[in-house]
Amino acid sequence: MDHFRLKHAELHAEDVPLARIAVEVGTPVYVYSRATLERHARVFREALASLGRVEIAFAVKANPNLAVLRVMSREGLGADVVSAGELARALAAGVPAERIVFSGVGKTGREMQAGLEAQIGQFNVESEEEGAELSRIAIAAAGRPATCALRINPDIDAGTHEKISTGRRDNKFGVAVDRAAAIYARLAAMDGLAMRGLAVHIGSQLADLTPLRDAFGKLGALIAELRGAGYPITHADLGGGLGVPYKAGEVFPTPAEYGAMVAAATSGWDVTLQFEPGRVIAGNAGVLLTRVIRVKRNANRDPFVIVDAAMNDLARPALYGAWHDFAAVRPSSARMTANIVGPICETGDTFATGRDIDAVGPGDLAIFRTAGAYGATMASSYNSRGFVPEVMVDGDRFAVVADRIAPETIFAAERVPEFLS
Ligand code: LLP
Repeated sequence: MDHFRLKHAELHAEDVPLARIAVEVGTPVYVYSRATLERHARVFREALASLGRVEIAFAVKANPNLAVLRVMSREGLGADVVSAGELARALAAGVPAERIVFSGVGKTGREMQAGLEAQIGQFNVESEEEGAELSRIAIAAAGRPATCALRINPDIDAGTHEKISTGRRDNKFGVAVDRAAAIYARLAAMDGLAMRGLAVHIGSQLADLTPLRDAFGKLGALIAELRGAGYPITHADLGGGLGVPYKAGEVFPTPAEYGAMVAAATSGWDVTLQFEPGRVIAGNAGVLLTRVIRVKRNANRDPFVIVDAAMNDLARPALYGAWHDFAAVRPSSARMTANIVGPICETGDTFATGRDIDAVGPGDLAIFRTAGAYGATMASSYNSRGFVPEVMVDGDRFAVVADRIAPETIFAAERVPEFLS
């Protein structure tokens, strides 16, 4: 359920006509719906309400915009961060430090230091080597120890796109589940670390709950083993990963079904359960609004609808072959079969091939749906196109929550050295 719907034959974000945003801000532009973000945060929280002690940390990587993080924080969500930059954003958006979890397979010493200084709630340690370094840094800082969970790699195939699958033995994430108890014991013996739990995250855009249930089963067995060895386990971080429909009509497990699965899989654990959802909250809360530049017809082929958004603005189709529904802002009943492409000089700059879409022509506005997660944040300035702006809608008003960054602003950071003059 989202708030990008037709009203009076014209697509709106909540009560704002998208055409108004296009005129006032220009295209391409990401548009987020505050009501949708809030609704998704609440639905997710309510789905877990029966689980007892629950902490939800929004995965900042999905949408790190400060206004989005502020909405999450107001909804009581913490933040799952994976870099010093994301940590700084979460703090700047007002997320309380104790609700911040620091994940990520390659935290640098400086990043760990920053997390310690901010007194974040938890580090999810990804290896024995990382734990040892965090211990040294915490001891040198002579503050309180770093509160930690150990991320395990359960060797489970999440059944999602291989580039966003993270829980197989040969992936770089976590420690192998059969080595985890020994590693946990060694980390628990280190000064500067306060080990309190385990973490797992097997991948993103999961369409099936079974791999998650299997992973949680392995986590539960490890909790029992560690408790048997005398380690008090108080926290279990179950990661994110719940997928969302990108195509109209696709059916995905609901947050309620996910909650019921978690309740069954974690029954008797007696821990604080932590979650790191990203896409399920932000995905359908955003669209990429674009304008058709022209329609190019080649012999014997479907026409190319060339839009002003490109793979640098929304990388998912080029990177993962991802599908994003396309809809005209002012649809007639006419349809066409077309290839939707951006202006970038790569054939990979293709949003859709041979797709049945609303008929559009030069100058028409359209949206790519489900662009609120892993959209703007994965943008680049390839082809010197600048960075696309972001807008948040709230009822009948909207605000630009990230400015368009012009190519000139980007190359202002570049220098032609003396030796070339
Ligand atoms: N926690 C950890 C440790 C993660 O690595 C991720 C995502 C999440 C939570 C949030 O997962 P979610 O609930 O959003 O599935 N760029 C890709 C997605 C990459 C996901 C990376 N990790 C895409 O556009 O599909």
